[in-house]
Amino acid sequence: TPRISRTSQGPSSTEGEVSSRLTLCSCFSFSHQTPKGSCLEAVKIAIDAGYRHIDGAFVYFNEHEVGQAIREKIAEGKIKREDIFYCGKLWNTCHPPELVRPTLEKTLKILQLDYVDLYIIELPMAFKPGDALYPKDENGKFIYHETDLCATWEALEACKDAGLAKSIGVSNFNRRQLEMIMNKPGLKYKPVSNQVECHPYFTQPKLLEFCRQHDIVIVGYSPLGTSRDESWVNVSSPPLLKDPVLNAIGKKYNKTAAQIALRFNVQRGVVVIPKSFNPQRIRENFQIFDFSLTEQEMKEIEALNKNVRYVELLM
Ligand code: A2P
Repeated sequence: TPRISRTSQGPSSTEGEVSSRLTLCSCFSFSHQTPKGSCLEAVKIAIDAGYRHIDGAFVYFNEHEVGQAIREKIAEGKIKREDIFYCGKLWNTCHPPELVRPTLEKTLKILQLDYVDLYIIELPMAFKPGDALYPKDENGKFIYHETDLCATWEALEACKDAGLAKSIGVSNFNRRQLEMIMNKPGLKYKPVSNQVECHPYFTQPKLLEFCRQHDIVIVGYSPLGTSRDESWVNVSSPPLLKDPVLNAIGKKYNKTAAQIALRFNVQRGVVVIPKSFNPQRIRENFQIFDFSLTEQEMKEIEALNKNVRYVELLM
């Protein structure tokens, strides 16, 4: 699931720059299992539309297409490598510290790139290492693995020092898990970002405040309320984009509910990584920088929070 965003700034090498750059971004991302070739096309369309931040992962099985799209756009002269901000993710089966660098190197080989701009721990729990990405026992239960998140983090720090990742961060971490990393004796780099579910029905007020205080950027996944695929989405929460408030505000600005949902997060400093394979919607999701919501509208949207996740991560 790569996601892409726009930035008006140049390449970034320091974490501070990365933060400000990320907060300017509206992003774009792909679904888990995608038809062959569709990801390649979607990334190229997105880059042409102006997106620059691509959110990917080994477990989305399309990193080769993302890498190809980036390389083709570079060859065309449309972009330079440093214009792109690629985020890769360390999967649950690769948490043992000695696996971290080889795993990132594998991703770089698939992408055919020399570095990722951001490498993040995808989830705070570890699975048994091995070829099975979702290892299960005979009762169908996940086989977890004892690892020390702090040791995994140190291995990410080493990847940054080696130049394989410009910045490092986390995903799906709660406050306690973030504090564990930040309070680690001898911490070299703190997480620059925490990627979590975030949208008007799940606004993350407490985590957002905590991360603001510690200069950690929140990257919001499922900013449009997901694809509502029952196999992994909690569909008991109503569809976000049908929300009357989002649609009414959209009418005022001649924007869609999707654009209002994205603008809401961007305006409160949350990076959004909307996912679309549809050329028209890819472009639509980028048209959110030519208007702003009033303080009153921001409050109205904040009040939509139901504190219910679409992505429950029952693992
Ligand atoms: P599609 O790929 O057909 O555009 P999220 O980013 O919250 O995970 O949501 C992704 C889902 O929302 C996908 O099913 C995507 O479908 C759909 N989607 C993306 N952009 C829009 C939009 N502007 N309006 C309506 N649906 C959208």
